[in-house]
Amino acid sequence: MADITTAPVPVRSPLPESLAGSTVLIIGGSSGIGLGAARLLHGLGARVVLAGRDKARLDAAVDDLRSAGGDAEVLGAVADAADEDAVRAAFDLAGTVDHVLLTAGGLTGAGPIETVTADAARLAYEQRVWGALITARIAAERLPAGGSVTLTSGVLVTRPRPGVAGAIGVAGGVETLVGALAVELAPRRVRVNAVRYGQFDTPLFRGAGNLPTDDAVAAAGTSAPLGRFGTAEEAGAVPVVLMANPYLNGQIFTADGGQSLA
Ligand SMILES: NC(=O)c1ccc[n+]([C@@H]2O[C@H](COP(=O)([O-])OP(=O)(O)OC[C@H]3O[C@@H](n4cnc5c(N)ncnc54)[C@H](OP(=O)(O)O)[C@@H]3O)[C@@H](O)[C@H]2O)c1
Repeated sequence: MADITTAPVPVRSPLPESLAGSTVLIIGGSSGIGLGAARLLHGLGARVVLAGRDKARLDAAVDDLRSAGGDAEVLGAVADAADEDAVRAAFDLAGTVDHVLLTAGGLTGAGPIETVTADAARLAYEQRVWGALITARIAAERLPAGGSVTLTSGVLVTRPRPGVAGAIGVAGGVETLVGALAVELAPRRVRVNAVRYGQFDTPLFRGAGNLPTDDAVAAAGTSAPLGRFGTAEEAGAVPVVLMANPYLNGQIFTADGGQSLA
């Protein structure tokens, strides 16, 4: 474990530009919100290490970032968020890690409650809650003072609809972890936050909403408070802010374009 210290969390610029030269491990970085964050971080000059389960998807994401240019390194690690050895190997590949973003997750456990199986419920727990605990404990060992862990949740936790209980219970668990982990890791000067997302145009969102085309996404988005759904980069920009500001800790930031107010 990293030492408990009496030194305060370091002061540095709280602006995203301060992340240049740092290393960010993004578990779930091969698509959607994680990839959106990776693009922004790469553009800022951060070294990014993407992790996901599907090697072809991961390789495509790494190639995509590398082709954008820039000097900062881009690496890929095949890893399931629920597999501690694989997540450790991703940290090892990265070497130094300053910040971790965990966006891994999907629709496991979703469906009418009569259809939710014990296997699906366990898998949802392993991917979301156990995955967050694994990430946090490796982060506690390895992150420097001022480093951060950012977890992911969704507005369905507070604005549920029928058929989400099996999937959203574990997202609520992730939100509960934020405070507990923030308190536990603060003496190591490692911060823990989460983003609670609304509706963002990603492969997961298109699949779940049966929105196969840009036109379908645009038409459905007119019902959102701002007249469209958010982009993956707009979603990815929120964890970038949480990483950059050394005084943001224990927060669940709602990024939903005002959907929760409607
Ligand atoms: N998009 C939204 O509107 C929205 C709203 C609320 C919450 N969220 C949450 O935000 C997170 C990201 O969603 P997204 O829309 O960006 O989804 P996405 O486009 O499907 O991206 C998910 C990423 O996570 C990876 N992943 C999934 N399960 C994993 C696992 N067990 N271990 C490692 N990597 C895994 C995926 O790659 P592999 O499949 O290859 O592993 C992929 O890179 C999810 O947790 C989702 O529930 C999204």
